[in-house]
Amino acid sequence: MSGIESRVALITGAGRGIGRAIAERLADDGFDIIVADVVDAQENIDAVVAAVESRGRRAIGVAGDVSNPEDVERIVKEGTDALGQLNVFVANAGIAQVDEILDVKPDDLDRLIDVNIKGVFYSYQSAARQFIAQGTGGKIIGAASIVAFRPFPVLASYSATKWAVRGLTQAAAMEFARHNITVNAYAPGVVGTAMWDLIDERLTTRDDKPRGSALQAQVDNILLGRVSEPADVAKLVSYLSGPDSDHMTGQTVLIDGGINFS
Ligand SMILES: NC(=O)c1ccc[n+]([C@@H]2O[C@H](COP(=O)([O-])OP(=O)(O)OC[C@H]3O[C@@H](n4cnc5c(N)ncnc54)[C@H](O)[C@@H]3O)[C@@H](O)[C@H]2O)c1
Repeated sequence: MSGIESRVALITGAGRGIGRAIAERLADDGFDIIVADVVDAQENIDAVVAAVESRGRRAIGVAGDVSNPEDVERIVKEGTDALGQLNVFVANAGIAQVDEILDVKPDDLDRLIDVNIKGVFYSYQSAARQFIAQGTGGKIIGAASIVAFRPFPVLASYSATKWAVRGLTQAAAMEFARHNITVNAYAPGVVGTAMWDLIDERLTTRDDKPRGSALQAQVDNILLGRVSEPADVAKLVSYLSGPDSDHMTGQTVLIDGGINFS
């Protein structure tokens, strides 16, 4: 137990990729971490818990699906029972689907909306309920994307869900300000994670090009000349989680190496 200054951050989708980098960065910043991801990701959850503990912070892993509101409530309850409180909730979990609009199947669209919109909605809701019950205020942070500003073709449905995160972030900022809760989102560009492996695989298969070439082609559109790393995004989330962003709410902030301008 680290005393009264101890702060606790919950990160969904924390088992790998950007979520894992956020968990590690916030642990370096002094947060204890609630590591949330799906049941199938238990091995990844355990690895991130170990990575946080190796930094001298406390961590607990909780499995659940953000598209299920009862799971999200349970993740908050089990996490705060173990670590004492909640100060920051990062609604990072999200999935991508690569399809032209004409080929999108209803079941796939439902799943995308369930995870990327409802999952973020339930996360914002549960986080705010916890902060209000504690009487402490807090910080809510969502995962948007550059496609919340300018969509990608073949990612139309995904783009729509991220545009929704941007809108929800603004509305939640309006409703929660009186509870001393800020709500902001990060909008990454092209980050080298399993998600872009999937997008690259789908695009290169469709266009009969070598694997990796779709990701590489994106580099030409990035002013700073490289694909983002998860740690680049985690640095922005560190700022959004800390006191330096106390006077900021309702914003979706691009962190893309220079692809889009807001
Ligand atoms: N990779 C990029 O280029 C990029 C760009 C912009 C935005 N984003 C967003 O950043 C976030 C993280 O992306 P990433 O690239 O690290 O993805 P990733 O696929 O590498 O990791 C996502 C994590 O979320 C978890 N997850 C998926 N569905 C879940 C659910 N229903 N409940 C709980 N956890 C679930 C997965 O198990 C996984 O551990 C996502 O919201 C994504 O849309 C990513």
